[in-house]
Amino acid sequence: MTAPHESTPGRPKLTHPPRGAAATPPGGPVYVPVGAECEIFRAAAAKGHAVMLKGPTGCGKTRFVEAMAHRLGRPLITVACHEDLTAGDLVGRYLLQGGDTVWTDGPLTRAVRTGAICYLDEVVEARADTVVVLHPLIDHRRELHVDRLGETLKAPPGFTLVVSYNPGYQSVLKDLKESTRQRMVSIAFDFLPPEVEARVLMQETGLAEATARQLVKLAQAIRRAGIPGLPEVASTRALVAAGDLHQAGLPLHTAAVAAIVEPLTDDAVQVDGLRELVDAHLPPA
Ligand SMILES: Nc1ncnc2c1ncn2[C@@H]1O[C@H](COP(=O)(O)OP(=O)(O)OP(=O)(O)O)[C@@H](O)[C@H]1O
Ligand SMILES: [Mg+2]
Repeated sequence: MTAPHESTPGRPKLTHPPRGAAATPPGGPVYVPVGAECEIFRAAAAKGHAVMLKGPTGCGKTRFVEAMAHRLGRPLITVACHEDLTAGDLVGRYLLQGGDTVWTDGPLTRAVRTGAICYLDEVVEARADTVVVLHPLIDHRRELHVDRLGETLKAPPGFTLVVSYNPGYQSVLKDLKESTRQRMVSIAFDFLPPEVEARVLMQETGLAEATARQLVKLAQAIRRAGIPGLPEVASTRALVAAGDLHQAGLPLHTAAVAAIVEPLTDDAVQVDGLRELVDAHLPPA
C-alpha cells in the first residue's frame, strides 16, 4: 500500500518583516506567496548564495523563479537538464562557422557574464560530472572556470544560480551529491494550502470561486487517497488545465477527467479509483 501523499512542512513562515524589503515593479508573472519564500530568495540573491527549489511537479517552482527574476529586475536564463547534458553544453564550446572555429558561450557562461539568474530545471537529471562545474561558482569563490578558453570568470553580484528538483518523483538512485546541495540555500515547495490554491485557480483561469473550490477539494481528496502505485498526484498545474477546459465550455467533470485523471496514469485500476473521486466531488457530465 502506497503511503498517502502527505503534506511536508513546506515553505517556512516569516515571523517579522525583512529589513530593507524592496518595492515590486508592476506587471510580470503572477506568483502568490505561501510563506517566506520571496524574502528568502531575495536575501540569498543579495548575498550571492545559490538557491535550490525542491517540491512536487506543478507546484509553482518555475513560476516562482520567473516572478522573482522580474521582481529583482534580472534576466532569466533557463536550462532544462537531462542526462546527456554535458559541461560543454552549459559552459560553451567552439563551433564551426563558415570555415572558422568560433567560441560560443553556453547558457551558464552567458548568465555569469551578464549577471543573470540561471535556472537549472530538474538538475538531478544532469550527470555528476556536469554538476561539478557548478561547485566553484556556488561557494564563496563565485568563479566559473572556462577551461577551453583558459579563463576564469568572476560572477558579478547580480548572478544567481537556481536549481530545481522533485525529490519524490526522481528515482532514489538519482540524487544531488551532498557536496552540491550543501552549497545552496533551499526552499521546500509543496501543494498549496486550499485557500491559496483556489485563489491561484481563480486568477489563472477566471473560474468562479465556488468552482475553484470544488476543484481544490477534488485535488485534496486525490492527494489524500494514497492510490497504490500512483507516481504523482493532482498538481496545481493540472487544476489550472481543468479550469481552462471548463472555461472553454466543457462540463467540470469532463474537464477534470481529461486534465487531472488521465494524465496521471494509464493503469485502468488507478484510473477507476481516480474517477470515483471525481464522481464523488463533481456533478456528473
Ligand atoms: N504560488 C503560485 N502562484 C501563482 N501560480 C501558481 C502558484 N503555484 C502554482 N501556480 C500555477 O501552477 C502552474 C504550474 O506551476 P510551475 O510550472 O511553476 O510548476 P513547477 O513546480 O515548476 O513544476 P515542474 O516541477 O513540473 O517543472 C503555473 O503555471 C501556475 O499557473
Ligand atoms: Mg518547472
